[in-house]
Amino acid sequence: MKISVIGTGYVGLVTGVCLSDIGHQVTCIDIDQQKVEKMRKGISPIFEPGLEELMVKNIDAERLFFTTDHKAGFQNAQAIYIAVGTPQNGDGSANLLFIEQVAKDIATQVTNDVVVVTKSTVPVGTNDYIKKLIQEQLVNDVKVEVVSNPEFLREGSAVKDTFYGDRIVIGSDSETAASLIEEVNKSFGIPVYKTDIRSAEMIKYASNAFLATKISFINEISNICEKTGANVEDVAIGMGLDQRIGNKFLNAGIGYGGSCFPKDTNALVQIAGNVEHDFELLKSVIKVNNDQQRLLVDKAINRFGTLSGKRVAILGLAFKPNTDDMREAASIKISQELVQMGAEVVAYDPIAMENAKKLLPGAIMYVNSIDEAILNADCAFILTEWDEIKKIDLSNLNNVMQEAVLFDGRNCFSIEETKNVNIEYHSIGRPS
Ligand code: UGA
Repeated sequence: MKISVIGTGYVGLVTGVCLSDIGHQVTCIDIDQQKVEKMRKGISPIFEPGLEELMVKNIDAERLFFTTDHKAGFQNAQAIYIAVGTPQNGDGSANLLFIEQVAKDIATQVTNDVVVVTKSTVPVGTNDYIKKLIQEQLVNDVKVEVVSNPEFLREGSAVKDTFYGDRIVIGSDSETAASLIEEVNKSFGIPVYKTDIRSAEMIKYASNAFLATKISFINEISNICEKTGANVEDVAIGMGLDQRIGNKFLNAGIGYGGSCFPKDTNALVQIAGNVEHDFELLKSVIKVNNDQQRLLVDKAINRFGTLSGKRVAILGLAFKPNTDDMREAASIKISQELVQMGAEVVAYDPIAMENAKKLLPGAIMYVNSIDEAILNADCAFILTEWDEIKKIDLSNLNNVMQEAVLFDGRNCFSIEETKNVNIEYHSIGRPS
């Protein structure tokens, strides 16, 4: 089939590339000329394992194209995917400016019948609004149907998630449109759940809010574990054995970050508020997460009294491993507080440092290895569980650091392995 994808952020690009890999003719459209030129050469604007290989393969096979020209990109397309951003407004709601612009582009430039597929995360009712906008501005005598097809990709494993996802949700009031999109996805071999448009939109928000709730829940439990002498990891294993609970997303740490959970939980609180529902549970989830992000700072203050003049190594800056994404990363809040308190902060991340420099306080010193970061440090904070951080030689810390005090926000080491080496180890929700 011939497909267009508007927006080449991580959702749009991964979707476009993977759809071309299962045999469709895909044209990805973006307004950024420089980005388009790079993508034409098979260079990905985002770090996503496996993506560039698939880009090169499908560009060579003449199934994957990139353009800035909407009209040319839409030509003969049977489906147009909307994958533009819905950034957060000041009040937490989703900003639909890009969506509105795209609806206008589609209305004024399509020349054949087409199904518009919304991949972007949009508030309940937005697909009906998109349909209305397109109908109102439609120039040619063509039929345009709208389908909600939310994405459930995780950054860092987006390609794998596209091929091996748990479900594909298709929301539409047109059986023909829904069937066409089911057909588009057939070769992925993933179970399809068809529903109405508004339920599909809500499935996306409810799923992210539920996962965020699981994380804040286990983080609250971890804080109680610390005070009662229980071990949150054992608690999570014991809970997860109940299949109704499941063992995933029960890793306690310094809270969730990224471009999705913080934005989508705030947006859902807003969506609920718009229909006069006070989503108290989700508000608490957000508050717990905000508090959890600064937990290590409190632990360090308790330990040292003051952090003024202390040399603090930050190991890992990205909101999670295998990505250079710094959006809403706990490292932002933590580094700001450390700098404010007068600490001398030395930071290292395998790939997120360039992005970090744009967001973190100017006073931070960046180095190119874990060894350089911990040299002469009074303590180290682990904020992202990168593999290379999990492989640190703990027995060497005492030789290179001023004081071998480790605050691990991701529970990278077992308590046993920290016992046999001469370090002081503080982690989350476990007895030290
Ligand atoms: C999340 C969802 O997992 C995807 O299903 C969804 O499609 C995506 O948002 C989206 O809406 O686009 P993502 O933000 O890429 O994906 O990352 P996750 O792997 O879910 O991690 C999010 C945050 O939660 C990270 O900061 C991670 O460290 C934290 N986390 C995750 C925990 O603290 N504990 C856990 O047990 C799991």
